[in-house]
Amino acid sequence: MDIRGGKPLTGSVNIGGAKNSTVALIPASILSQTSVVFDGVPQIKDVDNLRSILQDMNVSSSIDESVLRIDPSKIEPIPLTSGKIQSLRASYYFMGALLSRFGEAIVSFPGGDDIGPRPIDQHIHGFEALGAHVSFKNECIHIKAPKEGLVGTVIKFKFISVGATINMILASVLAKGQTTIENAAREPEIIDLATFLNNMGAKIRGAGTSQIRIDGVKELRASNTHTIIPDRIEAGTYIIIAAAIGNGIMIKNVIPEHLDLFLGKLEEMGVNMVIGEDSIYVYPTERLVNVEIKTSPFPGFATDLQQPISALMLLGDNEGIIKDTIYPKRIRHISELQKMNAKIWCDHNVIHVLKSNNLRGTDVTADEIRAGASLMITGLMASGETRIHDAGNILRGYDQVIYKLRNLGADVEIIDK
Ligand code: EPU
Repeated sequence: MDIRGGKPLTGSVNIGGAKNSTVALIPASILSQTSVVFDGVPQIKDVDNLRSILQDMNVSSSIDESVLRIDPSKIEPIPLTSGKIQSLRASYYFMGALLSRFGEAIVSFPGGDDIGPRPIDQHIHGFEALGAHVSFKNECIHIKAPKEGLVGTVIKFKFISVGATINMILASVLAKGQTTIENAAREPEIIDLATFLNNMGAKIRGAGTSQIRIDGVKELRASNTHTIIPDRIEAGTYIIIAAAIGNGIMIKNVIPEHLDLFLGKLEEMGVNMVIGEDSIYVYPTERLVNVEIKTSPFPGFATDLQQPISALMLLGDNEGIIKDTIYPKRIRHISELQKMNAKIWCDHNVIHVLKSNNLRGTDVTADEIRAGASLMITGLMASGETRIHDAGNILRGYDQVIYKLRNLGADVEIIDK
C-alpha cells in the first residue's frame, strides 16, 4: 500500500459490518439446516478465506455487495487441515460448530495475527466440560463427543475470552440440557452471534453479560436475513484518522455505545465530536493532549484500538502511556513507526509516545492488522510517501479501505497484497 501523506481529509465514511462478528457468524451458519443470509458483510479477505473453507465442506455461498448467502444443506464434514485454516484465527470457530452439529471436529491449530501468545486452553477446557474427548495429532485438534452427545454443564473460564465464549455457545446450542458460561466475554459481537442463533431457534440468554445460559435445542433453521452490527474497531480507526488529519469528517453506521470508553479518551485528548444516534462527526482538531490508556475486555478500552490510537498520540502534547493488559506483546507497530521518525517505545510492557513533529514516509511492514492500521494512519499524517509492505494484513479486516480513504481525499493505492 502506498500513501502520499499530509493531505487533509474530508467527507463521510460508511462503516461496514463487524469483522469479528462476521468471522464467527460464517462458521455458525453451518449449524442451520436451511440457507442463511447475512447483510452488512464487510469486503475483507477473512470472508473470502472462510468461504473457501465452507466450499471444501460442500457448502456453497455467493456474495452480492454486502449480502452473503450460504447454503449448508449439503454439508459434508471433513477434517479441516488445509493451509486456509492457518490463514485466520477465527477458523477455530469451526471446532465448536462442527462438534455441535456432527459430534466431531478435526481442525488444524488456528493461525491469526502475531500479537503475542494466544493459547486456546479455555476452549479445550470448555469442550471437555461438555463431555467431549480432545486429543492432538499432527498439528491437529481432534474433538469428539461421546455416543450420547454433549451434555450441558457449568463452564467457568479462568480468563475472559471472546473466542472461548463464542466456541462454547456454538458447541452447546444443540447439547442436551442447560449450559451456563461463567466469566463470559461481553463483547457486542457475542450478542450479535446470540441474536443470529436465537432467531434460528436457539435458546441463549444473557449474551452481553458475564453469565450466559444456553438451553440446548434439537435443530436450528434460518428464516430471516441477519444484519451484522457495525464494526466498532473500523469506526474507531476512522475517528482517529479524522482527529489526526480530518478537516471535518462524518462517520456513519456506528453504534456509539460500543465505543464509550474510547470516545471518552478521545474527548479527554481534546477531540471535538458530535455524537449522534448512529453517526459521529469529528471536527478538525486544534490541539491534542496525550492521556494514559489501559486496555481491558469489553466494555473497557479495546486492545484492537491500542495501536491505532498510538498513532494519534504522535500529535499530542505530554507523554502518552498505553498498557495493553490483554496482549502486552502487541507492539509490532513500534519498530516500524520509529522508521517514520515517531517517538514511540516500549519499556516493561508499557508503550510510551511523545509528540513527533517530523514524521516522514518510508518503507514499513504491516506485520498484523492493527499494527498495519497504525502505520496507515501515520502514513496519512506524515510528509512524503509511505510504502506499507504486507498490506494484505490490513485488507484482511478493513472493509474496502482503499475506496473509503480515497473517498475522503487520501492519495493511496494498493501495490502489493
Ligand atoms: N486466552 C487464554 N486462553 C484461551 C483464550 C484466551 O489464555 O484459551 C487469553 C489470550 O491469550 C488473551 C486473552 O485471553 O490474553 C483474551 O483473548 P481472547 O480469547 O478474548 O481473544 P481472541 O478471541 O483470540 C478476539 C478478537 C481479537 C481481539 C481479542 C480481544 C476475533 C476473531 N478476534 O480474539 O481481534 O483482539 O478478541 O478483544 O474475534 C483484531 O481484530 O485485531 C483481533 C486480534
